[in-house]
Amino acid sequence: MDSPRLRLIQIAPEHAEDFHQIWSNPEATQWSPRGICKTLDESRQWMSGILPEKNPDGLNYAVFTRPEPSTNQESMMIGVIGVYRSSPKAELGYIYHPSAWGQGYATEALTAFLKLFWELKPGVETMEALTDYENHASIKVLTKCGFHETRRLKEHVVVLSKGAEKRDVLVFEIKNPAPLN
Ligand SMILES: CC(C)(COP(=O)(O)OP(=O)(O)OC[C@H]1O[C@@H](n2cnc3c(N)ncnc32)[C@H](O)[C@@H]1OP(=O)(O)O)[C@@H](O)C(=O)NCCC(=O)NCCS
Repeated sequence: MDSPRLRLIQIAPEHAEDFHQIWSNPEATQWSPRGICKTLDESRQWMSGILPEKNPDGLNYAVFTRPEPSTNQESMMIGVIGVYRSSPKAELGYIYHPSAWGQGYATEALTAFLKLFWELKPGVETMEALTDYENHASIKVLTKCGFHETRRLKEHVVVLSKGAEKRDVLVFEIKNPAPLN
């Protein structure tokens, strides 16, 4: 699927090295309870959980830039977006390499992903996204794409890069605009 500046391609084993570039970056993984993937093998293992053959209930994409043909720039994998599971509620996740931050890419990719997801999974009623209460960039992306905060999970999860204490998590939701039932 294409958006004005991006192409979403279903995640596949051939994306492992680019996936590792992102998941081995301390800034990109700073909000992840999983934390950094130190080796390519760790990244392959982590990525295997979102491959369609291993996880048919998920739907995950590698996000590539789509440069203008006149610029001679190469397409680059800048992020990953998708749902780990689709039921009972779909659970969204995304991560981008810091070199791509601040250009509206996460918002553009999520807008495209939502359209695609509701087309491919019309029976799903709700998608939720869990984010650290201090992850302001992610909160902004979710809000810009139509998600609403529904609850706060107090002291829910440890994020190692932020310390040993369990941290609060905000739950955001968006409804299928044209549900089957
Ligand atoms: C969160 C993340 C996906 C944002 O990607 P991005 O491509 O920079 O996002 P966008 O450019 O589309 O939008 C970011 C918005 O947040 C704003 N923002 C960025 N940092 C911010 C901060 N510290 N405080 C408040 N707003 C912030 C930007 O200004 C922008 O809003 P605007 O368009 O109104 O100016 C990216 O930083 C990332 O991959 N983070 C690590 C992984 C992660 O946190 N994943 C989500 C887990 S729930």
